[in-house]
Amino acid sequence: MPGIVIVGAQWGDEGKGKVTDLLAEQAQVVVRYQGGNNAGHTVVVGQQTLKLHLIPSGIHRPGVLCVIGNGLVVDPRALVAEMDELEANGLDTSGLRISANAHLVMPYHLMLDGIEEERRGGKSLGTTRRGIGPTYTDKVARYGLRVQDFLDIAVFEEKLSQALEQKNALLTAVYGKEPLEMGPILQEYGACAERLRPHIVDASLLVHEALTQGQNVLFEGAQGTLLDIDHGTYPFVTSSSPVAGGACTGVGIGPRLIDGVIAVSKAYTTRVGAGPFPTELSDDVGDHLREVGREYGTTTGRPRRCGWFDGVILRYAARVNGLTGLALTKLDVLTGLPRLKICVGYELALSKVEGYDGQVLKEFPYQGAVLARCQPVYEEMDGWAEDISGARTSDELPPQARAYVARLEELAGVPVDIISVGPKREQTILLRSPFATPQ
Ligand code: IMP
Repeated sequence: MPGIVIVGAQWGDEGKGKVTDLLAEQAQVVVRYQGGNNAGHTVVVGQQTLKLHLIPSGIHRPGVLCVIGNGLVVDPRALVAEMDELEANGLDTSGLRISANAHLVMPYHLMLDGIEEERRGGKSLGTTRRGIGPTYTDKVARYGLRVQDFLDIAVFEEKLSQALEQKNALLTAVYGKEPLEMGPILQEYGACAERLRPHIVDASLLVHEALTQGQNVLFEGAQGTLLDIDHGTYPFVTSSSPVAGGACTGVGIGPRLIDGVIAVSKAYTTRVGAGPFPTELSDDVGDHLREVGREYGTTTGRPRRCGWFDGVILRYAARVNGLTGLALTKLDVLTGLPRLKICVGYELALSKVEGYDGQVLKEFPYQGAVLARCQPVYEEMDGWAEDISGARTSDELPPQARAYVARLEELAGVPVDIISVGPKREQTILLRSPFATPQ
């Protein structure tokens, strides 16, 4: 041991890629545990900026095994394209391992994601349209095809034929679409199978052995706490379990092998896609955060919704993930804002929801209808004007920035271990390594 989980504290895009890449220096294994290529993890190494969607953010570290856990849904075409791109950039992908039990995203899953979004019209979820929801649906409905079906192409062909029978009935009878043909899918996926076969493993066994041999393992979450299928802002969520608990089921290890949970949180809040967002700003400050923070989706290019830091969400993330530490990213983006606001509660004045009128909520409400009516209660703090992108120790931060970090720490009830002041690896203040200190 130790096994450390890295989880998003907000609605994803917190900078988990950078933090994972940074900590991967001390790890032997990095394993993703949920999601698919809806994720976009940006890692900047020297002059190279690499955008990862399926491959864990340790791939830039020679010798680190990068594992795709069973909890993922894998579009093999996207995975092969990502491997090709990394190799074209001179990176070695021989350390990639893929769980035999991960599910495959099929062409009909992408079609169904699009069809469902269109059908919802103005009430669409704003999905990434990567087929994520429909693939997890098939997994739970026990219709799914898995990575292990690539081990014997005859098995894959038979399962594909069964799946197409069911999916074509749905596509033609319910949605009035043309049926899908087996031949082209078999050809495309067959080529992917050839390429991926050497990487297919029993990932649970691999990770368990690494941990029991004393290696350092990072569990890399995608998306974030509020996009969790159970604990997020349902139905405006993804279809998997980004919270720390998902690391156990998504890899196949027991909770006793996890020693620490680090949440990555931006120094402000963003969200892509639809759904409630109490601290959202549609003013100059929101524009500042979007432009200075380059808040455009890694996967879809969509502009992100931006707002002040939400301490209610942070406390919730601390609870549902059992956090032991925080990594605070993009603190530099706040530079130049004269006053900073932190949401410390939600007010429900004028609420029509029975039982809540006029209350200030300190805990994140479980009812979507309540959250949608929440008005943030803010505390204000002084901002700073100094460029902090060169700070490498907390002493090099202006006192206002230190006070801001200390207040977030207080709200979370856990220490800030890492502060990020820019996209580059070196633009980091490492206060405490989760691997160095016994948890
Ligand atoms: P899906 O995961 O593509 O089904 O999308 C469901 C919701 O999760 C949408 O609001 C997406 O914008 C959001 N989402 C999915 N992946 C990410 C991510 O990596 N970052 C931020 N939002 C995401």
